[in-house]
Amino acid sequence: MKYDIPIPYERLIYFQELLGLEEREAPTLERYQGFFLEKSQEFAEHCYHYFHKIPETRIILEHEERSGNMKRIWQHWFESLFKHKLDRQLLPYLWRSGLRHVELNIDQRFVNLGYSIVRRFCQRIAREVIPTADLEPVLVAIDKMLDNCLLIETQAFISATSQCDIKVVRGISHQVRNPITIIGGNISRLQKKVKPGDSLYHTYEIIMQENKRLERMAIDAGVYSEMFQKDPRFSNNSLKGLISRALDRLRKTDWFKNLRIHTDLDPKFPEIQGDPKDLETMFYYLLQNSIEALNPDNPHIRISSKMKDPPSPFIEIEIFNTGTPPKPEELSNLFVPFYSSKPYGTGFGLPIAQLAARKDLGEIYLEALADQGTKCIVKLPIPARKT
Ligand code: HEM
Repeated sequence: MKYDIPIPYERLIYFQELLGLEEREAPTLERYQGFFLEKSQEFAEHCYHYFHKIPETRIILEHEERSGNMKRIWQHWFESLFKHKLDRQLLPYLWRSGLRHVELNIDQRFVNLGYSIVRRFCQRIAREVIPTADLEPVLVAIDKMLDNCLLIETQAFISATSQCDIKVVRGISHQVRNPITIIGGNISRLQKKVKPGDSLYHTYEIIMQENKRLERMAIDAGVYSEMFQKDPRFSNNSLKGLISRALDRLRKTDWFKNLRIHTDLDPKFPEIQGDPKDLETMFYYLLQNSIEALNPDNPHIRISSKMKDPPSPFIEIEIFNTGTPPKPEELSNLFVPFYSSKPYGTGFGLPIAQLAARKDLGEIYLEALADQGTKCIVKLPIPARKT
């Protein structure tokens, strides 16, 4: 399979910033560039011999269609590293090599090992030829450059390996919506032709409910795959704001009727840290889950927050709902996709909420309170204290 994933320039530039890889690093390396370039063939031989000793990589090297191909590739890669600046010329080449490894199913662990070999090789050359006074900045520049290559390689690996799953989930989510709309429209028309007391009326009602469940499942699958792929963008967010936006979205749904919601948030900790979209979606699904489980005779939800072990960098938010609590043996299964204990559940709500919490450095637990209801505890980071 050939991957044609566009280069995520923004993310790759972010890696450079993260590593503090700056333009001024280039002259440091440029001064000694020649020493490294003349060792490129030795590097390729060294790499080849190393991977020839490992059975899993030897088999690849022994089946090259063009003899000496991998040596040429490694030599060219090594030369490119020292010839080009980390600019728009080198980035596509590094990205392409990451995708190529996935295309050929090269074990990522061996590629990582390759980077460790490159690092040791470069350090040896540097120690042999560079005067002591200049050695440290050159070693630092090489380290940053290789760290950057490794981040790009890993990003390409993640993007390529997750792309297939995501495409399948997104495709299903998108494709099933049309048949769902057609089924829903037709059943609704048929239902209008029979009287509410008629046995067919009830049958149509069940089909409509199941069709609605399918529709929600398709939407939730799309939300899950999008959340899985998108990197979080951290910011400080008002907890009250996130919860009220999630509740506003739920107010538009059928479940909200006659519901009592009691909110008691600790005013000392008004903000939480994380991606606002992820967190709002997380609260939406947690609250939806609580509402679906409510005792219809006593529909009550309590949302509260507190810091459990002050001064902790995390705050705990509790969402309690009335209704029959899940059995203790069911608790961990509730976070597994497609597992649902509710007649009209999609089996995606809690997995989406858990994915959002994990992406934003948080955790979610459920506690069954016998004869009372269920408590959902979300632990999330608060903004760092200013010192
Ligand atoms: C430091 C680690 C490594 C680096 C820097 C690296 C670099 C590269 C580059 C630049 C390409 C060419 C990409 C393109 O232009 O299409 C490539 C392709 C390839 N790599 Fe790696 N590689 C590494 C590790 C490995 C390992 C451990 C193996 C396993 C033996 C391997 C096997 C291959 C193969 C089979 C190809 C495809 C060759 C072709 O298309 O003819 N690589 N690699």
